[in-house]
Amino acid sequence: MGEGAGGCGSAGSAEEARVVRGCAENARLQEQRRAGLRAAREGRTLESLLEELQRVATLPLERSETLPREIYTSDAFYAWEVDEVFSKEWFCVAHVSQVPANGDFVNLDLFGDPLVVVRDKSGGVRVLSRVCPHRGMDIMPPGFGHDGHGPAERRDGGEGRGSTRLFLCPYHSWTFELDGRLKACPEMQQAEGFRRDEWGLKEFRCEVWQGFVFVNLDGKAPMTVAEQYAELGEHVSKWRIGGMEIVVEREWDIPCNWKVLTENFMESYHHAGAHAKTLQTIMPAKQTWTERERPHFIRCHLPYKPKVREEIAATEADGGQWDTFPVVAGLEGEDRHEWGLMLGHPLFTFAVTPDQVVWYRILPLGPDAVKLTTTVLVPKATREHPGFDRMLERAEQEAAAFHLEDMEVIAAVQRSLHANGYQRGRLSHLEMPIWLMQRYLAARAHGTWPGLDHPPAPGQR
Ligand code: FES
Ligand SMILES: [Fe+2]
Repeated sequence: MGEGAGGCGSAGSAEEARVVRGCAENARLQEQRRAGLRAAREGRTLESLLEELQRVATLPLERSETLPREIYTSDAFYAWEVDEVFSKEWFCVAHVSQVPANGDFVNLDLFGDPLVVVRDKSGGVRVLSRVCPHRGMDIMPPGFGHDGHGPAERRDGGEGRGSTRLFLCPYHSWTFELDGRLKACPEMQQAEGFRRDEWGLKEFRCEVWQGFVFVNLDGKAPMTVAEQYAELGEHVSKWRIGGMEIVVEREWDIPCNWKVLTENFMESYHHAGAHAKTLQTIMPAKQTWTERERPHFIRCHLPYKPKVREEIAATEADGGQWDTFPVVAGLEGEDRHEWGLMLGHPLFTFAVTPDQVVWYRILPLGPDAVKLTTTVLVPKATREHPGFDRMLERAEQEAAAFHLEDMEVIAAVQRSLHANGYQRGRLSHLEMPIWLMQRYLAARAHGTWPGLDHPPAPGQR
């Protein structure tokens, strides 16, 4: 289990230790099953899985089913997702508040590619490969205790974070500018035809949208992020997320497929079970609903129940603050009385709430593992509020509490996908987002997006 860069003080509770232990135990048991079932699993070909995906995706919501387990467990299907979905689409890797000043950088590994997100000398955000063009060293290899960037002025925020004027490869001391150009390389004068300007760090196509940094690994996405998420942008523009700052950030290793985590993030049917003591008391599962199908995103609404609305009105009439942080300026009506869950396809998951934005950065590590970073973003004005520290403590506790409830179910679900007793299930209408995710994957298998090759599914209101 990783340590949160932002820390979470008092949330490091017995409850957290229990769930973390549970995840490790489920991972261990799952690994045993995996080894035993490997041969059987490989028997089901990628082709037959894609065929079954197409069949399931054409079912109406009322007859919808869960997908074959191999879609969540097999190496072949995961490799298909990486090559045909994730590499071709835009993938959200950072928020601009993580690299506020020129020279600030954040490292991450994306589908095995070591990357650095850096703000260059002119203030632009770039995504560079960390693989040195000389002999392939990772210029900031994780886990060795030295972060490889020589002339760094600041190394706060843990490993793989900091601020620097140059990147230094620790192997033979080649140095690179913040835009990836090779600046200096000792003793290369006898290498015939070697031209320094031809040997920079590889740069990936990158865009900043609403403050989020996106990368497109194959460089051929047909649209810009702004074009692709134009309608999503209209929905969330009131939150002005580009000007927000990450104030809570925690890392978690979870032994589950990315879809198990994302399905759980998007469906709120489980409020009645996993969150019975927390979210269900404010946003009952029964009232949650999903908008009509869009090519590039899914949006769900989680309205507060009437009693909570009354409580809010009463608290605010007395000059009090009901929410953890002050309500984001300008929010009213439904926006002030519900959470909105968003999935920008394929894996840009966030929630807008009246007082904060919760962004989950999900990095798939294989069919059975993800590295998750849970974050909370608030407006600058909230950060400058005199009572901010106290509010932050409450936010950290709340965020950890309901996240631990989720961790427990997703780790256990993933292990069951390997069990002899596993059965394919049926979906409730409250799980419409899962059905929409199936339709997205099926559309991508045809090289298109939902609603572009068939009529979009209507919304639930
Ligand atoms: S591998 Fe980087 S300088 Fe040689
Ligand atoms: Fe949940």
